[in-house]
Amino acid sequence: MILVPFFTFLCLLLNAVSSFVVYQPKGCGLVNWTIGGRKRISAQCVNANYTEVMEYARDQQIYALIIDGCNLPIRQIEPLPNMSVLFLRIVNCGIEEIDDDAFANVTDVIKLELSHNSIKTFPNVEMLTDLHELILEDNKIGNIADSQKFVKNKLLYDVNLRNNKLLEVTDASFSGFESVRNLDLGANQIETISPNAFTKLANLGTLNLGHNNISTLPSKLSNNQLSELPASVFEGLTQLQKLDLTNTTLKELPLNVFSTNKNMKTLYLNFNNLEQLPFNVFKELTNMRELEIHHNKLKRLDESVFPDSDKLFELHLNDNQLDDIPPFRNLVHLIYLNLENNRLTALPTEFVRQSMWLKSIYLNNNRLRSLPDTLFSHLISAPDVIDLRHNNLTTVPISAFGVKKHKSTILLHGNPLNCDEKLAWLVNDIKSETQRVSNPSHPEIPLCAGPSKHSGLPLQNIKLD
Ligand SMILES: *[C@@H]1O[C@H](CO)[C@@H](O)[C@H](O)[C@H]1NC(C)=O
Ligand SMILES: *[C@@H]1O[C@H](CO)[C@@H](O)[C@H](O)[C@H]1NC(C)=O
Ligand SMILES: *[C@@H]1O[C@H](CO)[C@@H](O)[C@H](O)[C@H]1NC(C)=O
Ligand SMILES: *[C@@H]1O[C@H](CO)[C@@H](O)[C@H](O)[C@H]1NC(C)=O
Ligand SMILES: *[C@@H]1O[C@H](CO)[C@@H](O)[C@H](O)[C@H]1NC(C)=O
Ligand SMILES: *[C@@H]1O[C@H](CO)[C@@H](O)[C@H](O)[C@H]1NC(C)=O
Ligand SMILES: *[C@@H]1O[C@H](CO)[C@@H](O)[C@H](O)[C@H]1NC(C)=O
Repeated sequence: MILVPFFTFLCLLLNAVSSFVVYQPKGCGLVNWTIGGRKRISAQCVNANYTEVMEYARDQQIYALIIDGCNLPIRQIEPLPNMSVLFLRIVNCGIEEIDDDAFANVTDVIKLELSHNSIKTFPNVEMLTDLHELILEDNKIGNIADSQKFVKNKLLYDVNLRNNKLLEVTDASFSGFESVRNLDLGANQIETISPNAFTKLANLGTLNLGHNNISTLPSKLSNNQLSELPASVFEGLTQLQKLDLTNTTLKELPLNVFSTNKNMKTLYLNFNNLEQLPFNVFKELTNMRELEIHHNKLKRLDESVFPDSDKLFELHLNDNQLDDIPPFRNLVHLIYLNLENNRLTALPTEFVRQSMWLKSIYLNNNRLRSLPDTLFSHLISAPDVIDLRHNNLTTVPISAFGVKKHKSTILLHGNPLNCDEKLAWLVNDIKSETQRVSNPSHPEIPLCAGPSKHSGLPLQNIKLD
């Protein structure tokens, strides 16, 4: 009877003492750091009281202040209390508006993330002169009123506006973001881009315009009056290494659109309506490593469009309407080639003749009737997979694959194979396990279509003598 109240009293006392020593807002976990000889705390708060957290942070030295969810949504961010914070993240708090001077007293911020809110206008970060990274993904930002004032943010390298409500990119939208290296405008509703939209962004390395409704890329009149050719919206972006134009309803590419982007390494043009590519369109991209143009309506390709790059290692041309392809003579370092889901009936004799290192080759779901005699005989080592499923092949010549006894996989299911002595080499290789014709992702065993005594039998079960 006496013990219980005493114990309760002790607990109350301990509670009071500990919360007096380190007051900690409810829902927050704290960690101490020593950075550059200075102590900083980090606070990670989940569904906490925003006001309480901010009061706690007042005048503190903070490494990271993370607020994920607020116990009551905060419609508006008013000026934050004075604090020194390097990483500030306020997500899932229902923010719609941000006062113009909201960040006036948190000027040490290096990384600011305000994703997953309902912010309508681009926040004023002018005073955050140390800011490197600004993440505004998944909000409702419709426009950027005046970017010129951000000229002072000379360290701002990353701006992420993914999944917002941008409808257009004007010449003024990003002209102030001169230092930006990575700009993500993916998954907005951009329909128009003005011709000089990116002209001032000389440091731009990655530009994501994917999942918008662009249709046609604008051209600007050339500075060079002698030339009749209009210049491209990407002209002068010599540092651009990665450009994503996936799913932007593009119908065509302007002539010379990438002609000055000499450092481009990765280009995505997937899920568009491209029917043809202009002459020489990738020719200048001598540093290209990965080119993806799958899910378009390409019917024909001219060898001249491809980059003079000996660095290209991945080429995606699947899911087009190609009935003819060039031999791709110069692609010395090609490792991955995808041509599946096209309308190819034959491959050129000199097909990929310089590509000695090919590892993955997808030719499935075409209409190939035969393979060139020495198709892959030049490969230095056996590829991991050659997918020939669902074509119209009756046989595969041994000479096409060389006589290398490395284990590799030639997927053949869905071809009308004529299992005569010409396929004896393959049957023997399957039996001696030096070659496979199915794999765990595609376990279907190829069947013989003929001659009649073997018709319907699995290729590896037949006896040929
Ligand atoms: C963090 O440091 C404060 C003193 O600066 C100390 O009172 C507190 O116990 C420390 N917290 C942790 C979790 O180490
Ligand atoms: C949050 O904390 C403040 C200050 O302690 C208090 O006035 C307010 O009622 C709290 N809000 C909620 C939703 O608990
Ligand atoms: C602002 O906070 C920092 C620590 O984060 C402190 O050193 C400084 O004195 C504060 N400034 C004012 C005016 O209170
Ligand atoms: C910033 O802090 C100073 C000094 O504490 C204060 O006078 C000023 O009102 C604060 N500014 C804002 C926008 O809160
Ligand atoms: C393309 O974008 C639209 C919205 O702009 C979206 O509905 C569609 O799913 C996207 N398609 C692909 C293949 O990503
Ligand atoms: C894309 O833009 C065209 C006009 O260029 C418009 O007709 C169409 O509705 C837009 N599509 C979407 C998904 O916004
Ligand atoms: C397959 O090839 C045969 C001739 O070898 C041809 O008659 C037939 O139309 C082809 N089938 C398809 C789907 O291309």
